[in-house]
Amino acid sequence: MADLDDIKDGKDFGIGNPPVNEGFFIKGSNALDWGMQNRLSRIFNSETGNTVMLAFDHGYFMGATTGLERIDLGIMKLVPFADVLMCTRGVLRSCIPSKVIKPIVLRCSGGNSILTELSNETVAVDIEDAIRLNVAAITAQVYIGAKHEHKSICNIIKLIDTGNRYGIPTLAVTGVGKEMARDARYFGLATRIAAELGAHYIKSYFIEEGFEKVTAGCPVPIVIAGGKKLPELDALTMAYKAIDQGARGVDMGRNIFQSDSPVAMIQAVGAVVHKGEKPKKALQMYETLKAELGD
Ligand code: R5P
Repeated sequence: MADLDDIKDGKDFGIGNPPVNEGFFIKGSNALDWGMQNRLSRIFNSETGNTVMLAFDHGYFMGATTGLERIDLGIMKLVPFADVLMCTRGVLRSCIPSKVIKPIVLRCSGGNSILTELSNETVAVDIEDAIRLNVAAITAQVYIGAKHEHKSICNIIKLIDTGNRYGIPTLAVTGVGKEMARDARYFGLATRIAAELGAHYIKSYFIEEGFEKVTAGCPVPIVIAGGKKLPELDALTMAYKAIDQGARGVDMGRNIFQSDSPVAMIQAVGAVVHKGEKPKKALQMYETLKAELGD
């Protein structure tokens, strides 16, 4: 119990010093509540403003794709080098030990497969289960212009509303229908729609022409997906250009876990994202680490 005798009056009230009242460091997030901002601060590094998310949620529609056959062997060794893990609840519960305290972005859509129409998804996780798993954010795809555009937009609206109720941010992933042009007009449209609906940050793809306009026109942060496996230098160059043109990080999967040396690659990507390392220097780092690891 606090001592009630000999209570000392406060002396140092810092009279003359204005109160410290910092703005929040994440784009478009200044007006969010404390819990929401705190979760976003676990995702984005407050010193660099950027994030390296390791995406390994692909199995929810692709099955055991290359690099994800054994999460316990392939992914666990990458965990120390990722800022955030993005996965499904099935893999989280079955393969990721609960002592891992990296923030989790939980894949909350499903109901499709590579054998059918990808845009035909539904919300596949109840918010109560996301809370139970102590996640930092929830996520689903929006398929703008695809066959089930409306359904996918309704999914993200549902996630945003339920997440808002509990202070859990929503990442909207722009899923691209097979027939869509991957250009600035398309990604500008898709990312802006998701942000207007209230998504707290958006995953897009990098494009060579006009990516700056996509990031500038989106009022919340954009992170880029890696897409199909590229040579390491190309993937590092893509990450470099994306950050240089306004992206606040990567949500990268195949270009890390399908690399010849995934442990070296995730560290090289981290150097680009957080230290602005130039692609060729980052490749040298990759090669050095790869040799040290004996990969
Ligand atoms: C795929 O649908 C998932 O959203 C992935 O998390 C996303 O595509 C990022 O992975 P990758 O870098 O392999 O494209």
